Amino acid sequence: MPHLLAHIREDVATVLERDPAAKSRAEVFLCYAGLHAVWFYRINHWFWNHGFLLVARWLSQVARFLTGIEIHPGAKIGRRLFIDHGLGVVIGETAAVGNDVTLYQGVTLGGTGKEQGKRHPSIEDGVVIGGGAKVLGNITVGRNCRIGAGSVVLRNVPEDSTVVGVPGHIIFREGKRVVITDPKQINDPLSEALAAVATEVDRLRDRVQKLEGSESLSQPLSASIQGIMEEIDFQI
Ligand SMILES: CC(C)(COP(=O)(O)OP(=O)(O)OC[C@H]1O[C@@H](n2cnc3c(N)ncnc32)[C@H](O)[C@@H]1OP(=O)(O)O)[C@@H](O)C(=O)NCCC(=O)NCCS
Repeated sequence: MPHLLAHIREDVATVLERDPAAKSRAEVFLCYAGLHAVWFYRINHWFWNHGFLLVARWLSQVARFLTGIEIHPGAKIGRRLFIDHGLGVVIGETAAVGNDVTLYQGVTLGGTGKEQGKRHPSIEDGVVIGGGAKVLGNITVGRNCRIGAGSVVLRNVPEDSTVVGVPGHIIFREGKRVVITDPKQINDPLSEALAAVATEVDRLRDRVQKLEGSESLSQPLSASIQGIMEEIDFQI
């Protein structure tokens, strides 16, 4: 109990520090559903760790009903987690969240549906995850990273990086802009499909030329597509 009260005091102070909209301790204590969800979690996690699994799960559903935030009682959460606005946040059973992390509404720390055991992400200290972002699978988001609103992150992110997009890619690393020169680095399934189609068209063209005995006049399709790709600004 003294621990919980100490956490509550610390969490309220954290919100006053991080949210310019917060005006007073009383307002933060009463009106921040993100904090209420974290406080419920601390109780539920205790039950979970002491073998009261059903009680813990049931209470986490009560918390979800009251706050719109679902934190699995088995997740490991550090100090001063700030869930701003909060509605729709989901934190899975094997997720690990470090200290001083900020999550906005609609963030999912979830599984890909393909993994067993540790199947949710580990979020290191000081990370900020923007509204609606999905961080999926047993991956690690390094210290002080920023994940853009609406991103879908499926791979490990090195510390001090900013990631945006679907699928997420790094745009800043240690304060410096990351310039993507090879479109494949974005790992966009559509560009891969386009490249495969271009290769196939080139193969068919070669075959037609051989059968007709004619000479090629235009450049291969893959080269035209490569040209278009190079023209596009992939820095996002
Ligand atoms: C990702 C983020 C942290 C980057 O902030 P920043 O370092 O100030 O970067 P910038 O705003 O200069 O943007 C850098 C580039 O990334 C792009 N970008 C920024 N955020 C993006 C996002 N969420 N998705 C896709 N692209 C994004 C910008 O358009 C810009 O591109 P350009 O330089 O080619 O024009 C920020 O944009 C963000 O998404 N924060 C989350 C905030 C949030 O969720 N708030 C909810 C409050 S309720």
